[in-house]
Amino acid sequence: MIEQREAADRTLLVVHHTPSPATRELLEAVLGGANDPDIDGVTVRAVPALGATVPDVLAADGYLFGTPANFGYMSGALKHFFDTVYYPCLDTVAGRPYGMWVHGNDDTAGAVSSVRRLVTGMGLTQVAADLEITGPVDAQVRERCYELGGTVAVTVAEQM
Ligand SMILES: Cc1cc2nc3c(=O)[nH]c(=O)nc-3n(C[C@H](O)[C@H](O)[C@H](O)COP(=O)(O)O)c2cc1C
Repeated sequence: MIEQREAADRTLLVVHHTPSPATRELLEAVLGGANDPDIDGVTVRAVPALGATVPDVLAADGYLFGTPANFGYMSGALKHFFDTVYYPCLDTVAGRPYGMWVHGNDDTAGAVSSVRRLVTGMGLTQVAADLEITGPVDAQVRERCYELGGTVAVTVAEQM
């Protein structure tokens, strides 16, 4: 018999580095979208990048990664997360959906490509456009973050 998991079993893991009020606003908007009341059956777990573990990643059905741009790369905290989980999770997580957001003062390109290289290596499937935000957080930015969270959560909910 083929065992089918109930939609209520799904977990979306949000791994983030959130060192400032602006990045806190982004995280909260992403979580708002991921927890949209119209999306059923997904538990959203937000875990700081310095505390996220291999079991957290293995137990999740999809991922959101959030980081500031730091010296043209992802934050050291998110890099530490990937250093920790990359090899132990490599064979298990391939195909699972992910999305990401990056915030910077003026240039997020290097940070985005650094995350992209690792998620590509892990075989994750991009299900939402990378969200690159520079400068102040306004209503439009919050709306885009909300959409990102909702898009990835819906994809996780609909996985069989
Ligand atoms: C050590 C350090 C390095 C940074 N490097 C970059 C960078 O390469 N590109 C960029 O756009 N912003 C850079 N920033 C700005 C951060 O991305 C920004 O401070 C962060 O997203 C939080 O936004 P906020 O300062 O408006 O709260 C850097 C900030 C710090 C502290």
